[in-house]
Amino acid sequence: MSMTIRAQAVEPFEPPAPVPRTMPPSRLEIIRTVLRNPLELWGTPSYTLPYIDTKFFGSRTLIVNHPGLIRHVLVDNVANYRMAVVRQLILRPILRDGLLTAEGEVWKRSRKAISPVFTPRHAKGFANQMLAKSMEFVERYSAAAQTSFETDISADMTDLTFEILSETLFSGEIVSDSNDMSGDVDRLLHAMGRVDPMDLLQAPSWVPRLTRIGGTRVLEKFRKIVLDTMEKRRARMHTEPNLVPQDFLTLLLQLSGAGGLSDDEIEDNILTFIGAGHETTARALAWTLYCVANVPDFRMAMEGEIDRVIASGAEPVQWLDQMPHVRAAFEEAMRLYPPAPSINREAIRDDVWMAPDGDRVDIPAGMTVLVMPWTLHRHETLWDRPRAYMPQRFLPENRDRIDRYQYLPFGAGPRICIGAIFAMQEAVIALAVLMQRYRFDVTAESHPWPVQKLTTQPRDRLPMLVSARAH
Ligand code: HEM
Repeated sequence: MSMTIRAQAVEPFEPPAPVPRTMPPSRLEIIRTVLRNPLELWGTPSYTLPYIDTKFFGSRTLIVNHPGLIRHVLVDNVANYRMAVVRQLILRPILRDGLLTAEGEVWKRSRKAISPVFTPRHAKGFANQMLAKSMEFVERYSAAAQTSFETDISADMTDLTFEILSETLFSGEIVSDSNDMSGDVDRLLHAMGRVDPMDLLQAPSWVPRLTRIGGTRVLEKFRKIVLDTMEKRRARMHTEPNLVPQDFLTLLLQLSGAGGLSDDEIEDNILTFIGAGHETTARALAWTLYCVANVPDFRMAMEGEIDRVIASGAEPVQWLDQMPHVRAAFEEAMRLYPPAPSINREAIRDDVWMAPDGDRVDIPAGMTVLVMPWTLHRHETLWDRPRAYMPQRFLPENRDRIDRYQYLPFGAGPRICIGAIFAMQEAVIALAVLMQRYRFDVTAESHPWPVQKLTTQPRDRLPMLVSARAH
């Protein structure tokens, strides 16, 4: 008897995510979900329609997934949009006039003043420090075990990116007596950076947010760390001006005074860069290692690429260009788990957008506009197999099929992430160093459930098995 063996099509890996709702939630359910995990709120229309004009806690809200309309709001008519009230109610008490939360003239002046540190040439100058810190980090892995061990990748990546940020922007001179600074930052953001029922009611900022009371003490502690760091560096700038590191901290302090930044603004920006500059990258790195562990063929291609490029003696500053598989794995992880899942704006004056098919979209003054990488990156009309992890989409030969405004991990327009190149380079260097020495596998306990706090992060720990690679 002859038997036909049919090749089994291998289904691409679909990592965990909430299934779109098919029924609109009740008002109570909306409140509960927004407070617990907004990612679980969105229904099928949010993943299939180009835009939805809806009401959210009494305010007219436009959910936007159409790349043309996104471009209109974030770029072409950007002057008509400011940061949405709810976003500011959450973030401004922590970051005040730091770049992420500043508006108007303060934002313009600060962005211009800070930009020189983040030009592509300057950001690339950090490559060697990023390499050194990543290598120090893997040495700790080798000290922990020679062969294989289990670790919480989510916490590990937070430590690694904090160390890189602290070394590159502050030359390792953040003044803290805590030996768990990245844990403290984590606690600060989690205590303070979440939606409170008072935010949903858009109560003014002086109305106490009970869910954040615990965070106020942590915030005071942080402000003290920032002030001590500024004071210590100022003293050094005075006593040994020729030996002072020419880093972000020195640059900020030199901006002090006329036409530059006030002392309060400098303080707010130090806190902003500590906050915005590491947790985002950490989350994306952890999701990348988790997703890659589930696509062994692609992982092998990455390992081959990493080994080849490092053996060739290429400088770390070239790795971002020379490791397209590593870069693609990271970009695809940010598609499915965008570290910043929602970019929220509010119309200042009435606005109109005409869709290419002739549809007219009215955006009245005061309307909230939600550009959500979370739904945009999983949109059924924009992506093939939207829920599947397929890093091939981001390889150079396929990359130009992705519209500039359908993939927005770093936002777009004048308020695009100032640290985007920094983060991309950091991610590729960190992944290359980690994966050259170790292989990361899932364990029976690796079931990360994505939740939206400030970032898209696993709800609990993300345990993975780390094994030394044979060379
Ligand atoms: C994978 C890592 C990162 C992601 C996904 C990310 C994402 C974003 C996004 C989406 C925005 C725009 C927000 C909006 O328009 O409302 C933003 C802004 C910002 N990001 Fe990042 N970010 C990352 C890493 C970094 C790093 C490493 C730094 C600093 C070293 C940084 C500093 C900032 C700052 C200061 C802003 C505010 C810019 C402005 O409004 O002018 N980010 N980021």
